[in-house]
Amino acid sequence: MGAIDSERGGVASCNGKPPAAEAAGGGSTEAENGGSQQRKGGATPLEVGTRVMCRWRDGKFHPVKVIERRKLHGGGHNDYEYYVHYTEFNRRLDEWAKLEQLDLDSVWTDVDEKAEEKATGLKMTRHQKRKIDETHVEGHEELDAASLREHEEFTKVKNIATIELGRYEIETWYFSPFPPEYSDVSKLYFCEFCLNFMKRKEQLQRHMRKCDLKHPPGDEIYRCGTLSMFEVDGKKNKVYGQNLCYLAKLFLDHKTLYYDVDLFLFYILCECDDRGCHMVGYFSKEKHSEESYNLACILTLPPYQRKGYGKFLIAFSYELSKKEGKVGTPERPLSDLGNLSYRGYWTRVLLDILKKHKGNISIKELSDMTAIKNEDILSTLQNLDLLQYRKGQHVICADPKVLDRHLKAAGRGGLEVDVSKLIWTPYKEQG
Ligand code: ACO
Ligand code: ZN
Repeated sequence: MGAIDSERGGVASCNGKPPAAEAAGGGSTEAENGGSQQRKGGATPLEVGTRVMCRWRDGKFHPVKVIERRKLHGGGHNDYEYYVHYTEFNRRLDEWAKLEQLDLDSVWTDVDEKAEEKATGLKMTRHQKRKIDETHVEGHEELDAASLREHEEFTKVKNIATIELGRYEIETWYFSPFPPEYSDVSKLYFCEFCLNFMKRKEQLQRHMRKCDLKHPPGDEIYRCGTLSMFEVDGKKNKVYGQNLCYLAKLFLDHKTLYYDVDLFLFYILCECDDRGCHMVGYFSKEKHSEESYNLACILTLPPYQRKGYGKFLIAFSYELSKKEGKVGTPERPLSDLGNLSYRGYWTRVLLDILKKHKGNISIKELSDMTAIKNEDILSTLQNLDLLQYRKGQHVICADPKVLDRHLKAAGRGGLEVDVSKLIWTPYKEQG
Protein backbone atom coordinates (compact mmCIF):
# COMPACT_ATOMS: atom_id res chain seq x y z
CA MET A 1 0.00 0.00 0.00
CA GLY A 2 1.01 3.55 -0.57
CA ALA A 3 4.51 4.89 -0.28
CA ILE A 4 6.34 1.71 -1.00
CA ASP A 5 5.84 1.90 -4.73
CA SER A 6 6.56 5.56 -5.09
CA GLU A 7 9.74 5.49 -3.09
CA ARG A 8 12.54 4.94 -5.41
CA GLY A 9 12.55 8.47 -6.73
CA GLY A 10 13.92 10.49 -3.90
CA VAL A 11 14.88 7.96 -1.35
CA ALA A 12 16.81 5.06 -2.70
CA SER A 13 20.54 5.25 -3.01
CA CYS A 14 22.23 4.17 -6.14
CA ASN A 15 25.53 2.60 -5.52
CA GLY A 16 24.24 0.34 -8.24
CA LYS A 17 27.06 -2.10 -7.89
CA PRO A 18 26.30 -5.75 -8.41
CA PRO A 19 27.35 -7.86 -5.43
CA ALA A 20 30.41 -9.22 -7.15
CA ALA A 21 31.69 -5.78 -8.05
CA GLU A 22 31.23 -4.63 -4.49
CA ALA A 23 33.27 -7.46 -3.08
CA ALA A 24 35.95 -7.02 -5.69
CA GLY A 25 35.96 -3.29 -5.04
CA GLY A 26 36.73 -4.00 -1.40
CA GLY A 27 39.78 -5.88 -2.57
CA SER A 28 38.97 -8.97 -0.56
CA THR A 29 39.96 -12.01 -2.48
CA GLU A 30 40.18 -15.41 -0.95
CA ALA A 31 43.97 -15.33 -0.86
CA GLU A 32 44.02 -11.99 0.90
CA ASN A 33 41.48 -12.66 3.54
CA GLY A 34 42.74 -15.98 4.62
CA GLY A 35 40.00 -18.18 3.28
CA SER A 36 36.81 -16.32 4.26
CA GLN A 37 33.84 -17.82 2.51
CA GLN A 38 33.16 -16.62 -0.97
CA ARG A 39 31.62 -18.76 -3.58
CA LYS A 40 29.89 -18.28 -6.86
CA GLY A 41 26.91 -20.28 -7.97
CA GLY A 42 24.15 -21.11 -5.54
CA ALA A 43 24.04 -24.25 -3.50
CA THR A 44 20.79 -24.20 -1.59
CA PRO A 45 19.76 -23.57 1.05
CA LEU A 46 21.54 -20.24 0.98
CA GLU A 47 23.35 -19.10 4.09
CA VAL A 48 22.40 -16.00 6.03
CA GLY A 49 24.76 -13.27 4.84
CA THR A 50 24.72 -14.43 1.23
CA ARG A 51 24.54 -11.71 -1.39
CA VAL A 52 22.54 -12.46 -4.49
CA MET A 53 20.40 -10.72 -7.10
CA CYS A 54 16.68 -10.83 -6.37
CA ARG A 55 13.67 -9.97 -8.52
CA TRP A 56 11.78 -7.10 -6.90
CA ARG A 57 8.20 -6.01 -7.42
CA ASP A 58 9.34 -3.79 -10.33
CA GLY A 59 10.22 -7.04 -12.18
CA LYS A 60 13.95 -6.17 -12.19
CA PHE A 61 16.83 -7.82 -10.36
CA HIS A 62 18.46 -5.91 -7.49
CA PRO A 63 21.28 -6.88 -5.13
CA VAL A 64 20.13 -8.24 -1.79
CA LYS A 65 21.66 -9.66 1.33
CA VAL A 66 20.03 -12.65 3.01
CA ILE A 67 19.10 -11.58 6.54
CA GLU A 68 17.21 -14.68 7.67
CA ARG A 69 15.77 -17.87 6.24
CA ARG A 70 12.92 -20.15 7.21
CA LYS A 71 11.67 -23.52 6.09
CA LEU A 72 8.54 -23.53 3.99
CA HIS A 73 5.56 -25.31 5.46
CA GLY A 74 5.31 -28.77 3.98
CA GLY A 75 8.45 -28.24 1.90
CA GLY A 76 11.37 -30.63 1.57
CA HIS A 77 14.51 -30.26 3.68
CA ASN A 78 15.92 -27.84 1.12
CA ASP A 79 12.80 -25.67 0.71
CA TYR A 80 13.35 -22.30 2.30
CA GLU A 81 12.25 -18.75 1.83
CA TYR A 82 14.64 -15.94 2.50
CA TYR A 83 14.25 -12.62 4.29
CA VAL A 84 16.25 -10.23 2.16
CA HIS A 85 17.52 -6.67 2.47
CA TYR A 86 17.73 -4.79 -0.84
CA THR A 87 21.08 -3.12 -0.36
CA GLU A 88 20.14 -0.19 -2.61
CA PHE A 89 17.00 0.60 -0.65
CA ASN A 90 15.81 1.46 2.83
CA ARG A 91 15.14 -1.38 5.29
CA ARG A 92 11.39 -0.84 4.95
CA LEU A 93 11.54 -2.76 1.67
CA ASP A 94 13.04 -5.87 3.28
CA GLU A 95 10.83 -8.87 2.56
CA TRP A 96 10.49 -12.63 2.41
CA ALA A 97 11.53 -13.81 -1.05
CA LYS A 98 10.83 -17.15 -2.66
CA LEU A 99 13.67 -19.15 -4.14
CA GLU A 100 12.40 -18.50 -7.68
CA GLN A 101 12.94 -14.74 -7.17
CA LEU A 102 16.67 -15.30 -6.65
CA ASP A 103 19.23 -15.56 -9.43
CA LEU A 104 21.42 -18.33 -8.07
CA ASP A 105 24.11 -17.67 -10.65
CA SER A 106 24.79 -14.37 -8.93
CA VAL A 107 25.30 -15.81 -5.45
CA TRP A 108 28.11 -14.28 -3.48
CA THR A 109 28.58 -15.29 0.13
CA ASP A 110 29.60 -12.40 2.32
CA VAL A 111 33.14 -12.19 3.60
CA ASP A 112 33.46 -12.54 7.33
CA GLU A 113 33.87 -9.45 9.40
CA LYS A 114 37.52 -9.76 10.40
CA ALA A 115 38.60 -10.52 6.88
CA GLU A 116 36.64 -7.56 5.61
CA GLU A 117 38.36 -5.26 8.11
CA LYS A 118 41.72 -6.60 7.08
CA ALA A 119 40.95 -6.22 3.41
CA THR A 120 39.65 -2.67 3.64
CA GLY A 121 42.12 -1.65 6.32
CA LEU A 122 39.27 -0.12 8.27
CA LYS A 123 37.90 -1.12 11.63
CA MET A 124 34.30 -1.15 10.50
CA THR A 125 31.51 -3.55 11.19
CA ARG A 126 29.59 -4.90 8.27
CA HIS A 127 26.63 -2.79 9.33
CA GLN A 128 28.72 0.33 9.37
CA LYS A 129 30.01 -0.55 5.96
CA ARG A 130 26.47 -1.05 4.80
CA LYS A 131 25.64 2.37 6.17
CA ILE A 132 28.47 3.91 4.21
CA ASP A 133 27.27 2.14 1.09
CA GLU A 134 23.89 3.72 1.71
CA THR A 135 24.96 7.23 2.51
CA HIS A 136 21.50 8.56 1.78
CA VAL A 137 19.99 6.86 4.78
CA GLU A 138 20.06 9.34 7.58
CA GLY A 139 19.38 8.48 11.10
CA HIS A 140 22.00 5.97 12.07
CA GLU A 141 24.97 8.20 12.43
CA GLU A 142 24.23 9.18 16.00
CA LEU A 143 24.06 5.56 17.08
CA ASP A 144 27.36 3.97 18.05
CA ALA A 145 28.34 0.81 16.22
CA ALA A 146 27.37 -1.50 19.07
CA SER A 147 23.86 -0.03 19.47
CA LEU A 148 23.38 -0.07 15.74
CA ARG A 149 24.32 -3.76 15.57
CA GLU A 150 22.10 -4.61 18.49
CA HIS A 151 19.20 -2.68 17.00
CA GLU A 152 19.53 -4.30 13.60
CA GLU A 153 19.93 -7.79 15.06
CA PHE A 154 16.89 -7.48 17.28
CA THR A 155 14.66 -5.87 14.67
CA LYS A 156 15.99 -7.60 11.58
CA VAL A 157 12.82 -9.37 10.55
CA LYS A 158 9.45 -7.63 10.32
CA ASN A 159 7.03 -9.41 12.63
CA ILE A 160 3.71 -7.95 11.47
CA ALA A 161 3.33 -7.80 7.70
CA THR A 162 0.02 -5.94 7.37
CA ILE A 163 -2.50 -4.11 9.49
CA GLU A 164 -6.09 -3.19 8.97
CA LEU A 165 -6.97 0.30 10.17
CA GLY A 166 -10.28 1.92 9.32
CA ARG A 167 -10.89 1.39 5.64
CA TYR A 168 -7.27 0.65 4.82
CA GLU A 169 -5.15 -2.43 4.72
CA ILE A 170 -1.58 -1.25 5.09
CA GLU A 171 1.71 -3.04 4.53
CA THR A 172 4.06 -2.41 7.42
CA TRP A 173 7.65 -1.22 7.12
CA TYR A 174 9.55 -2.31 10.22
CA PHE A 175 9.57 -4.52 13.27
CA SER A 176 7.48 -3.40 16.23
CA PRO A 177 7.79 -5.05 19.65
CA PHE A 178 4.19 -6.18 20.16
CA PRO A 179 3.63 -8.30 23.27
CA PRO A 180 4.54 -12.00 22.87
CA GLU A 181 0.94 -13.15 22.47
CA TYR A 182 0.92 -11.44 19.04
CA SER A 183 3.99 -13.25 17.78
CA ASP A 184 2.01 -15.96 15.95
CA VAL A 185 0.14 -13.63 13.55
CA SER A 186 1.30 -11.61 10.59
CA LYS A 187 -1.76 -9.34 10.39
CA LEU A 188 -3.30 -7.18 13.09
CA TYR A 189 -6.68 -5.47 13.18
CA PHE A 190 -6.76 -2.02 14.77
CA CYS A 191 -9.77 -0.09 15.99
CA GLU A 192 -9.17 3.19 14.19
CA PHE A 193 -10.50 5.22 17.12
CA CYS A 194 -9.09 3.73 20.35
CA LEU A 195 -6.22 1.96 18.51
CA ASN A 196 -6.75 -1.33 20.36
CA PHE A 197 -5.41 -4.13 18.22
CA MET A 198 -6.66 -7.66 17.73
CA LYS A 199 -5.56 -10.87 16.06
CA ARG A 200 -8.78 -11.66 14.25
CA LYS A 201 -11.27 -9.72 12.12
CA GLU A 202 -14.25 -11.08 14.11
CA GLN A 203 -12.72 -9.72 17.32
CA LEU A 204 -12.45 -6.31 15.71
CA GLN A 205 -16.04 -6.47 14.46
CA ARG A 206 -17.24 -7.34 17.96
CA HIS A 207 -15.11 -4.53 19.36
CA MET A 208 -16.48 -1.98 16.89
CA ARG A 209 -20.03 -2.73 18.03
CA LYS A 210 -19.21 -1.66 21.56
CA CYS A 211 -16.39 0.88 21.19
CA ASP A 212 -17.95 4.26 21.78
CA LEU A 213 -15.08 6.44 20.58
CA LYS A 214 -15.47 8.24 17.26
CA HIS A 215 -12.31 10.35 17.56
CA PRO A 216 -9.05 10.20 19.51
CA PRO A 217 -9.46 10.75 23.25
CA GLY A 218 -8.32 14.16 24.54
CA ASP A 219 -9.01 17.73 23.46
CA GLU A 220 -9.71 18.95 19.98
CA ILE A 221 -7.33 21.91 19.70
CA TYR A 222 -7.65 22.70 15.97
CA ARG A 223 -10.43 22.44 13.42
CA CYS A 224 -10.29 23.77 9.88
CA GLY A 225 -12.69 22.38 7.30
CA THR A 226 -12.58 18.60 7.64
CA LEU A 227 -9.22 18.57 9.43
CA SER A 228 -8.92 18.33 13.19
CA MET A 229 -6.04 18.02 15.62
CA PHE A 230 -6.47 16.36 18.99
CA GLU A 231 -4.10 16.66 21.93
CA VAL A 232 -3.83 13.45 23.94
CA ASP A 233 -2.03 13.43 27.28
CA GLY A 234 -0.15 10.13 27.62
CA LYS A 235 -0.66 10.20 31.36
CA LYS A 236 -4.44 10.49 31.10
CA ASN A 237 -4.74 8.07 28.17
CA LYS A 238 -2.00 5.55 28.77
CA VAL A 239 -3.42 2.66 26.76
CA TYR A 240 -4.15 4.89 23.78
CA GLY A 241 -0.61 6.28 23.94
CA GLN A 242 0.91 2.80 24.10
CA ASN A 243 -1.26 1.51 21.25
CA LEU A 244 -0.22 4.47 19.16
CA CYS A 245 3.46 3.77 19.85
CA TYR A 246 3.10 0.11 18.80
CA LEU A 247 1.33 1.21 15.64
CA ALA A 248 3.81 3.97 14.83
CA LYS A 249 6.84 1.75 15.36
CA LEU A 250 5.68 -0.33 12.38
CA PHE A 251 6.65 2.68 10.23
CA LEU A 252 9.54 4.14 12.23
CA ASP A 253 12.90 2.41 12.19
CA HIS A 254 15.33 3.98 14.60
CA LYS A 255 13.03 5.02 17.36
CA THR A 256 12.95 3.61 20.82
CA LEU A 257 9.51 2.59 21.85
CA TYR A 258 8.69 4.50 24.98
CA TYR A 259 6.48 2.59 27.34
CA ASP A 260 6.52 5.59 29.61
CA VAL A 261 3.94 7.48 27.62
CA ASP A 262 3.16 9.64 30.69
CA LEU A 263 5.94 11.98 29.66
CA PHE A 264 4.48 12.71 26.23
CA LEU A 265 1.70 14.59 24.55
CA PHE A 266 0.38 13.17 21.29
CA TYR A 267 -1.02 15.39 18.55
CA ILE A 268 -3.31 13.40 16.30
CA LEU A 269 -4.31 14.71 12.89
CA CYS A 270 -7.69 13.49 11.64
CA GLU A 271 -9.84 13.77 8.57
CA CYS A 272 -13.41 14.00 9.82
CA ASP A 273 -16.67 12.90 8.21
CA ASP A 274 -20.05 11.67 9.43
CA ARG A 275 -18.54 8.33 10.47
CA GLY A 276 -16.01 9.94 12.77
CA CYS A 277 -12.50 11.41 12.88
CA HIS A 278 -10.06 9.16 11.02
CA MET A 279 -6.43 9.31 11.98
CA VAL A 280 -4.14 10.51 9.20
CA GLY A 281 -0.94 10.91 11.20
CA TYR A 282 0.46 12.28 14.43
CA PHE A 283 3.46 13.63 16.23
CA SER A 284 4.53 13.17 19.81
CA LYS A 285 6.16 15.75 22.00
CA GLU A 286 7.84 15.51 25.38
CA LYS A 287 6.10 17.54 28.05
CA HIS A 288 9.48 18.86 29.15
CA SER A 289 12.50 18.71 26.91
CA GLU A 290 15.92 19.84 28.03
CA GLU A 291 17.22 19.61 24.48
CA SER A 292 14.49 21.93 23.18
CA TYR A 293 12.87 19.14 21.18
CA ASN A 294 9.45 20.21 19.98
CA LEU A 295 8.73 16.88 18.31
CA ALA A 296 9.77 13.33 19.23
CA CYS A 297 8.22 11.14 16.51
CA ILE A 298 6.22 12.05 13.45
CA LEU A 299 4.22 9.78 11.19
CA THR A 300 1.82 10.09 8.29
CA LEU A 301 0.09 6.77 7.73
CA PRO A 302 1.12 5.36 4.33
CA PRO A 303 -2.29 5.80 2.60
CA TYR A 304 -2.11 9.52 3.36
CA GLN A 305 1.54 10.18 2.53
CA ARG A 306 2.81 12.69 -0.05
CA LYS A 307 -0.28 14.84 0.23
CA GLY A 308 1.26 17.57 2.40
CA TYR A 309 0.17 16.22 5.80
CA GLY A 310 3.75 15.69 6.97
CA LYS A 311 4.63 19.34 6.40
CA PHE A 312 1.36 20.31 8.06
CA LEU A 313 2.36 18.34 11.19
CA ILE A 314 5.83 19.88 11.15
CA ALA A 315 4.37 23.39 10.75
CA PHE A 316 1.95 22.64 13.57
CA SER A 317 4.80 21.63 15.90
CA TYR A 318 6.45 25.00 15.24
CA GLU A 319 3.18 26.87 15.81
CA LEU A 320 3.00 25.25 19.26
CA SER A 321 6.59 26.32 19.94
CA LYS A 322 5.75 29.89 18.92
CA LYS A 323 2.85 29.88 21.39
CA GLU A 324 5.26 28.63 24.08
CA GLY A 325 7.70 31.40 23.16
CA LYS A 326 10.44 28.81 22.56
CA VAL A 327 12.53 27.57 19.69
CA GLY A 328 12.28 23.89 18.84
CA THR A 329 13.91 21.13 16.90
CA PRO A 330 12.94 17.54 16.09
CA GLU A 331 14.46 14.74 18.12
CA ARG A 332 17.34 12.99 16.33
CA PRO A 333 17.97 10.73 14.52
CA LEU A 334 15.78 11.77 11.62
CA SER A 335 14.76 9.06 9.18
CA ASP A 336 15.42 9.47 5.44
CA LEU A 337 11.83 10.63 4.86
CA GLY A 338 11.86 12.74 8.04
CA ASN A 339 14.99 14.45 6.83
CA LEU A 340 13.51 15.17 3.38
CA SER A 341 10.34 16.57 4.92
CA TYR A 342 12.17 18.78 7.42
CA ARG A 343 14.65 20.03 4.82
CA GLY A 344 11.74 20.88 2.53
CA TYR A 345 9.86 22.64 5.33
CA TRP A 346 12.84 24.64 6.62
CA THR A 347 13.86 25.66 3.11
CA ARG A 348 10.40 26.89 2.24
CA VAL A 349 9.82 28.80 5.47
CA LEU A 350 13.24 30.47 5.57
CA LEU A 351 13.45 31.31 1.89
CA ASP A 352 9.93 32.75 1.88
CA ILE A 353 11.06 35.18 4.58
CA LEU A 354 14.34 36.00 2.83
CA LYS A 355 12.45 36.73 -0.38
CA LYS A 356 10.08 39.17 1.28
CA HIS A 357 12.55 40.78 3.65
CA LYS A 358 14.20 44.05 2.72
CA GLY A 359 17.64 44.71 4.19
CA ASN A 360 19.77 42.57 6.47
CA ILE A 361 18.39 39.82 8.61
CA SER A 362 20.21 37.78 11.21
CA ILE A 363 19.96 34.08 12.05
CA LYS A 364 18.58 35.11 15.43
CA GLU A 365 15.81 37.15 13.81
CA LEU A 366 14.95 34.25 11.53
CA SER A 367 14.81 31.98 14.56
CA ASP A 368 12.58 34.40 16.48
CA MET A 369 10.16 34.60 13.57
CA THR A 370 9.95 30.87 12.85
CA ALA A 371 10.78 29.10 16.16
CA ILE A 372 13.32 27.09 14.15
CA LYS A 373 16.49 26.47 16.14
CA ASN A 374 19.65 28.36 15.07
CA GLU A 375 21.55 25.19 14.17
CA ASP A 376 18.77 24.03 11.83
CA ILE A 377 18.68 27.44 10.12
CA LEU A 378 22.44 27.42 9.69
CA SER A 379 22.53 23.88 8.32
CA THR A 380 19.64 24.56 5.92
CA LEU A 381 21.26 27.71 4.54
CA GLN A 382 24.66 26.06 4.43
CA ASN A 383 23.26 23.10 2.49
CA LEU A 384 21.80 25.50 -0.03
CA ASP A 385 25.11 27.33 -0.19
CA LEU A 386 23.50 30.58 0.91
CA LEU A 387 25.84 31.23 3.78
CA GLN A 388 29.23 32.88 3.81
CA TYR A 389 31.52 33.48 6.74
CA ARG A 390 32.93 37.01 6.61
CA LYS A 391 34.86 38.81 9.32
CA GLY A 392 33.80 36.30 11.98
CA GLN A 393 30.13 36.50 11.04
CA HIS A 394 27.69 34.44 9.02
CA VAL A 395 26.27 36.42 6.12
CA ILE A 396 23.26 35.24 4.16
CA CYS A 397 23.61 35.66 0.42
CA ALA A 398 20.10 35.92 -0.92
CA ASP A 399 20.04 36.51 -4.66
CA PRO A 400 16.30 36.43 -5.56
CA LYS A 401 16.88 34.20 -8.59
CA VAL A 402 18.83 31.69 -6.52
CA LEU A 403 16.12 31.74 -3.85
CA ASP A 404 13.45 31.04 -6.46
CA ARG A 405 15.43 28.13 -7.80
CA HIS A 406 15.79 26.58 -4.33
CA LEU A 407 12.14 27.18 -3.53
CA LYS A 408 11.10 25.34 -6.65
CA ALA A 409 13.34 22.42 -5.74
CA ALA A 410 11.97 22.32 -2.19
CA GLY A 411 8.71 20.74 -3.34
CA ARG A 412 5.20 21.74 -2.47
CA GLY A 413 4.39 23.80 0.58
CA GLY A 414 2.19 21.25 2.27
CA LEU A 415 -1.19 21.90 3.83
CA GLU A 416 -1.35 25.26 5.57
CA VAL A 417 -1.90 25.59 9.29
CA ASP A 418 -4.46 28.35 9.91
CA VAL A 419 -3.20 29.64 13.25
CA SER A 420 -6.46 31.47 13.92
CA LYS A 421 -8.09 28.02 14.27
CA LEU A 422 -5.64 26.82 16.92
CA ILE A 423 -7.06 26.99 20.42
CA TRP A 424 -4.35 25.84 22.76
CA THR A 425 -2.42 26.69 25.87
CA PRO A 426 1.00 25.17 26.62
CA TYR A 427 1.13 22.15 28.89
CA LYS A 428 1.24 22.83 32.64
CA GLU A 429 1.70 20.13 35.26
CA GLN A 430 -1.43 19.88 37.32
CA GLY A 431 -1.38 19.78 41.12
N1 ACO B 1 9.86 9.65 -1.77
C1 ACO B 1 10.52 10.80 -1.97
N2 ACO B 1 10.31 11.93 -1.24
C2 ACO B 1 9.39 11.86 -0.27
C3 ACO B 1 8.65 10.68 0.00
C4 ACO B 1 8.93 9.54 -0.80
N3 ACO B 1 8.26 8.40 -0.63
N4 ACO B 1 7.81 10.93 1.02
C5 ACO B 1 8.01 12.21 1.40
N5 ACO B 1 8.98 12.77 0.62
C6 ACO B 1 9.54 14.13 0.73
C7 ACO B 1 9.12 15.03 -0.39
O1 ACO B 1 10.10 16.02 -0.53
C8 ACO B 1 7.84 15.63 0.17
O2 ACO B 1 7.53 16.87 -0.36
P1 ACO B 1 6.83 16.98 -1.83
O3 ACO B 1 5.76 15.95 -1.86
O4 ACO B 1 6.35 18.38 -1.86
O5 ACO B 1 7.93 16.70 -2.79
C9 ACO B 1 8.21 15.82 1.63
O6 ACO B 1 9.04 14.71 1.94
C10 ACO B 1 7.05 15.82 2.61
O7 ACO B 1 5.86 15.49 2.02
P2 ACO B 1 4.51 15.51 2.84
O8 ACO B 1 3.43 15.03 1.94
O9 ACO B 1 4.31 16.81 3.52
O10 ACO B 1 4.84 14.45 3.99
P3 ACO B 1 4.15 13.06 4.30
O11 ACO B 1 2.74 13.28 4.74
O12 ACO B 1 4.41 12.10 3.25
O13 ACO B 1 4.95 12.69 5.64
C11 ACO B 1 6.69 11.70 6.85
C12 ACO B 1 6.34 12.72 5.78
C13 ACO B 1 5.96 12.02 8.15
C14 ACO B 1 8.20 11.75 7.15
C15 ACO B 1 6.28 10.30 6.31
O14 ACO B 1 7.10 9.97 5.22
C16 ACO B 1 6.36 9.19 7.33
O15 ACO B 1 5.48 9.04 8.17
N6 ACO B 1 7.41 8.37 7.25
C17 ACO B 1 7.55 7.21 8.14
C18 ACO B 1 7.92 7.63 9.52
C19 ACO B 1 9.13 8.55 9.54
O16 ACO B 1 10.14 8.29 8.91
N7 ACO B 1 9.03 9.63 10.32
C20 ACO B 1 10.11 10.57 10.54
C21 ACO B 1 11.05 10.01 11.53
S1 ACO B 1 12.13 11.23 12.22
C22 ACO B 1 11.31 11.78 13.61
O17 ACO B 1 10.31 11.22 13.95
C23 ACO B 1 11.86 12.95 14.35
ZN1 ZN C 1 -12.12 1.03 19.78
